[in-house]
Amino acid sequence: MTLVYLMDWANLLLRWAHVIVGIAWIGASFYFVWLESHLEREGKKQGVAGDLWAIHGGGFYFVQKYKNAPEKLPDTLHWFKYEAYFTWITGFLLLLVVYYFNASSYMVDNSKIALAPWMTVLVGLFALIGGWFVYDRFSESRWGKDNRIMFGSMVLFVLVLSFVLDLFIQNKAVFLHIGAILGTMMAGNVFFVIIPNQKKTVTQMIAGEEPDPELGLQALRRSLHNNYFTLPVIFMMISNHYPMIFGHQYNWLVLVVIALIGVGIRHWFNLKNKGHAVKGSWALVAALFGILLLIVLMAPKQIEGAEGSNAIAFAEVRSIVDKHCVSCHSSQPSSTLFTVAPKGLMFDDDAVLQANAALVQQQAVSTSTMPLMVSPDTPVMTDQERQTLGLWIAQGANF
Ligand code: HEC
Repeated sequence: MTLVYLMDWANLLLRWAHVIVGIAWIGASFYFVWLESHLEREGKKQGVAGDLWAIHGGGFYFVQKYKNAPEKLPDTLHWFKYEAYFTWITGFLLLLVVYYFNASSYMVDNSKIALAPWMTVLVGLFALIGGWFVYDRFSESRWGKDNRIMFGSMVLFVLVLSFVLDLFIQNKAVFLHIGAILGTMMAGNVFFVIIPNQKKTVTQMIAGEEPDPELGLQALRRSLHNNYFTLPVIFMMISNHYPMIFGHQYNWLVLVVIALIGVGIRHWFNLKNKGHAVKGSWALVAALFGILLLIVLMAPKQIEGAEGSNAIAFAEVRSIVDKHCVSCHSSQPSSTLFTVAPKGLMFDDDAVLQANAALVQQQAVSTSTMPLMVSPDTPVMTDQERQTLGLWIAQGANF
């Protein structure tokens, strides 16, 4: 058994666990948001904020929310916290296994800046931890308590952060890190604010004191932030399978627009839950319009003159592919980092190159995702070379 093989298993199992606990966390959080906005509040008895009936899995449920706290604490009180903690832990381990242990392949981008792999890891970690501190401090400032100012500042913060990260690490890693930074803020909110505040409330009650309402308000604010972070974070986590997204020239800007779209959709759901589906439809329309705009604006340029111009000689294509791709994508890679052809693609075989022309177009022509920039000696692939490769594919990828 090789290390690469075992790491692949670690990658797979962690990913599996991460998705499962993530679903449990976000699912519970969506459920409580839904619950809060569907409570029937009219004519309830003293101290009760609202209640509702639901049917699920063949049974009837009756849930009641208290205005402040019940007179007496119940013997069993359920908490929701491990979903959040385990989502963060599995996510961080996945970040280690996929990106940080392979920093030379998946973090370093010599076409941007020549950094040693460990330095790119430091950049990532610094952004992750620093992001939390800035966010946490700002949330407690005078401005952070104003939701509009908080929203505007977060947009600006993400914009600056993604722009700066984009100077140091690979495109894919930029998207993943912004997702991880927002995810860290979410888990941090649960761990450092929401749960401790709930514990303090419970302790005060046990001591027979009136719980401090500010504790609840602070937790509610952080919950609200988490609510709006969810959709952008999930998008960023899945976006790294789509080079058209992370490989775009203005990827850092695309990232912010997508985050705003996610917030817009979430906002509409929140309004809809409160019974304002129609009045709030502007948020949904704006989000859908944003998606449409991205689809149009981000469309890769058509290769011009594919029919008119002279046929590209295959020899020219072969030499480009030999120079930039086969060090990794070959039956016997010369690369020290990839001893087997990544994704099984062996471009030393003409037929394989032809059969995967559409993938090659996506990775190396309409985006610059490939070749991976793994060492300072790797020659940078020129636009001219990409253009030639694209032209050959547009002409039918014949050899
Ligand atoms: C330094 C090694 C390296 C070089 C050089 C390289 N690749 Fe890759 N390639 C990879 C790795 C690693 C992956 C797998 C990426 C992943 O798992 O996300 C990959 C994946 C791919 C894929 C599959 C993408 C997918 O997700 O389906 C294509 C297509 C591809 N490369 C094309 C190329 C082309 C074309 C070139 C040359 C212009 C090239 N690569 C140069 C390492 C390399």
